Amino acid sequence: MSRLPWLVAVLWLAVLWPGPTQAAEGKAKRKDIAQNPHGDSGLCSSCHTSAAGGRETLRFGGNVSRLCQSCHDGRRAIREAHVVDVIPSPMLARQIPGDFPLAGGTLTCLTCHDIAQNCRADQPPAPSGPALLRGGRPRDPLLFCFRCHAPESYRPFNPHDQLEAGKPKTDTCLWCHADVPPVGSQPRESASYELRAPGAALCRNCHVVAQSHPVAGHMSAAPSADMLQYMSAYEMKAKMRLPLAQLLEIARAAKRMPRSIPLDADGRVTCYSCHNPHEKDLLPEGNPRAVGADSKQATNHRLRIPQGSVCVACHQK
Ligand code: HEC
Ligand code: HEC
Ligand code: HEC
Ligand code: HEC
Ligand code: HEC
Ligand code: HEC
Ligand code: HEC
Ligand code: HEC
Repeated sequence: MSRLPWLVAVLWLAVLWPGPTQAAEGKAKRKDIAQNPHGDSGLCSSCHTSAAGGRETLRFGGNVSRLCQSCHDGRRAIREAHVVDVIPSPMLARQIPGDFPLAGGTLTCLTCHDIAQNCRADQPPAPSGPALLRGGRPRDPLLFCFRCHAPESYRPFNPHDQLEAGKPKTDTCLWCHADVPPVGSQPRESASYELRAPGAALCRNCHVVAQSHPVAGHMSAAPSADMLQYMSAYEMKAKMRLPLAQLLEIARAAKRMPRSIPLDADGRVTCYSCHNPHEKDLLPEGNPRAVGADSKQATNHRLRIPQGSVCVACHQK
C-alpha cells in the first residue's frame, strides 16, 4: 500500500454500513432478548421512571452507560465495543466536535448516539437507520471515527499488525470487526464476524485496487455448485493422498463447503477470499482460516494459497 491513497480512498469511496443481516444474526444467537424501546413511544418507561420522561427521571440514577448496558450487554441486546466512561486524552479532547456531548468530561453512549430522538411521541420506527449516530450516516464508517481520531496519526497504521508478544492487540481488531472475535472459535459458514463493512468495502477503506483485480470478472462473482465442490476437494488434497476424482466424490456426498477460502455473506468472491487479513499465528494452526496468514509486513501478498497456484484453488484448469 502506498502512503496517502488510503486516506483519499476513505473520502472517495462510498461504503455501506454493516447491514441489518448482521444484527439479525447476532439476535438469532441470543435467548433472553430485551424488548426494543427504540422507536416505540409506548416504552418511555424502559429508560425513564415516569412516562412523561425527562432528564431527572432517567433510570440508574441518570448513569447513562449503566442504563444502556442494562440491555446492551451482548446477551439481551448488542454490545458496544468502543470504550465509554473514559476522560479523553488531551490530544483527543481537542478533536471532539462540539456537537458530541461529554457528561462531566467523560465519553458516554450519548456522545455518539442521539438517543433523544427516541424521546418524542412521533419518533421514527426502529430500526431508525444508522444507529442514531450524531451527524447521521457518514459515507464511510471510518469517517465517523475520524470526527475524533486524527487520521494523520493512523496514516502509517497497519491493521494487519495484530500480535504483540504473542497476544492479540484487541484494539486493532476494531478497525475491521465491530467486536473482538474469540480466536479459539471454529469457522462458521456464511458468518458475518460482525465485520464493519460487507466484503470488499472493508478493504477498500485503505486499499485502492482496480475493479478488474486480479483478473476481470472476480469481484462479487458467485462460484457455481461445481466450483464449490472442486474448491473443497482441492483443499482436502493438501491433507489426503487421494485422487481428485475421489475427493470430488467425498465433497459431493458430504456437501462439504470450502473452509480455507471464505466467501462474503452472500456466497460471493471477495478480497478476503484470496487474501488473509490476519497476522500469522493469530488464529491457531489447525484453523483452516489460518492458512496463508502472513507476517506484519506482507511477504507473499497475504495470499491464502501460495502465489502461482492461487487460481487452481478455484479453477480446475
Ligand atoms: C430495555 C432495553 C434497552 C435499553 C435500556 C436500551 N436499549 Fe438500545 N436496543 C435494545 C434492543 C432490543 C435493540 C435492537 C437491537 C438488538 O436486539 O440488539 C436496541 C438497539 C439499539 C441501537 C440500534 C438502533 C438502530 O436503529 O439501529 C442503538 C444505537 C441503541 N440501541 C443504543 C442504545 C443506547 C445508547 C441506550 C441508552 C441510552 C440504549 N440503547 C438503551 C434494547 C435497549
Ligand atoms: C466522540 C469521539 C470519538 C469517536 C467518534 C470515536 N472515538 Fe474512539 N476513542 C475516543 C476516546 C475519547 C477514546 C479514549 C482514548 C483516548 O482518549 O485517547 C477512544 C479510544 C479508542 C480506541 C482505543 C485506543 C486506545 O488508545 O486505547 C480505539 C481502538 C478506538 N477509539 C477506535 C474507534 C473507532 C474504530 C471509531 C469509529 C467506529 C471511533 N473510535 C470513534 C473518542 C472517539
Ligand atoms: C465513540 C462513539 C461511540 C460510542 C461512545 C458508542 N457507540 Fe454505539 N456505535 C457507534 C458506531 C460508529 C456504530 C455503528 C457502526 C458499527 O457498528 O460499527 C455504533 C453502533 C451501535 C449499535 C448498533 C449495532 C448494530 O450492529 O446495529 C448499538 C446497539 C450501540 N452502538 C450501542 C451503544 C451503547 C449501548 C453505547 C454505550 C455503552 C455506545 N453504543 C457507545 C459509535 C459509538
Ligand atoms: C432508550 C432509552 C430512552 C427511551 C426509550 C426514552 N428516553 Fe427520554 N431520554 C433518554 C436519555 C438518555 C435522555 C437524556 C438525553 C440527553 O441528555 O441528551 C432522555 C431525555 C428525555 C427528556 C428531556 C429532554 C431534554 O432535552 O431535556 C424528555 C422530556 C424525555 N426524555 C422524554 C421521553 C419520552 C416521552 C419517551 C417516550 C416517548 C422517552 N423519553 C423515551 C433515554 C430514553
Ligand atoms: C483488516 C481487517 C481485519 C482485522 C484488522 C482483523 N480481522 Fe478478523 N476477520 C476479518 C475478515 C475479513 C474475516 C472473515 C474471513 C476470515 O475468516 O478470514 C475475519 C474473521 C475472523 C475470525 C473468524 C475466523 C474463524 O476461525 O472462523 C476471527 C476469530 C477473527 N477474525 C479474529 C480477529 C482478531 C482477534 C483480530 C484482532 C487481533 C482481528 N480478527 C482483526 C478481517 C479482519
Ligand atoms: C481471485 C483472487 C483475488 C481477489 C478476489 C483479490 N485479490 Fe488481491 N491479489 C491477488 C493476487 C494473485 C495478487 C498477487 C499480485 C498480482 O497478481 O497482482 C494480489 C495482490 C494484491 C495486493 C498487492 C499488490 C498490489 O496490487 O498492490 C493488494 C494490496 C491486493 N491484492 C488487495 C486486494 C483487494 C483490496 C481486493 C478486493 C477489492 C483483492 N485484492 C481481491 C488475488 C486476488
Ligand atoms: C486501516 C487500513 C487497512 C485496511 C482496512 C486493510 N488494510 Fe491491508 N494493508 C494496510 C497496510 C498499512 C498494509 C502494509 C503492511 C504490509 O506490508 O503488509 C497492508 C497490506 C496488505 C496486503 C499486502 C500488500 C502487498 O504489497 O503484498 C494485502 C494483500 C492486504 N493488505 C489486503 C487487505 C484485505 C484483504 C483487507 C480487507 C479484509 C485489508 N487489507 C484491509 C492497511 C489496511
Ligand atoms: C476464490 C475463487 C477464485 C480464485 C482464487 C480465482 N478465480 Fe477465476 N473465477 C472465479 C469465479 C467465481 C468466476 C466467475 C464464475 C465462473 O466463471 O464460473 C471466475 C471467473 C474467471 C474467468 C472468466 C472471467 C469472465 O469474465 O468470464 C477467468 C479467465 C478466471 N476466472 C481466471 C482466473 C485466474 C487467472 C485466477 C488466478 C489469478 C483466478 N481466476 C482465481 C473464482 C476464482
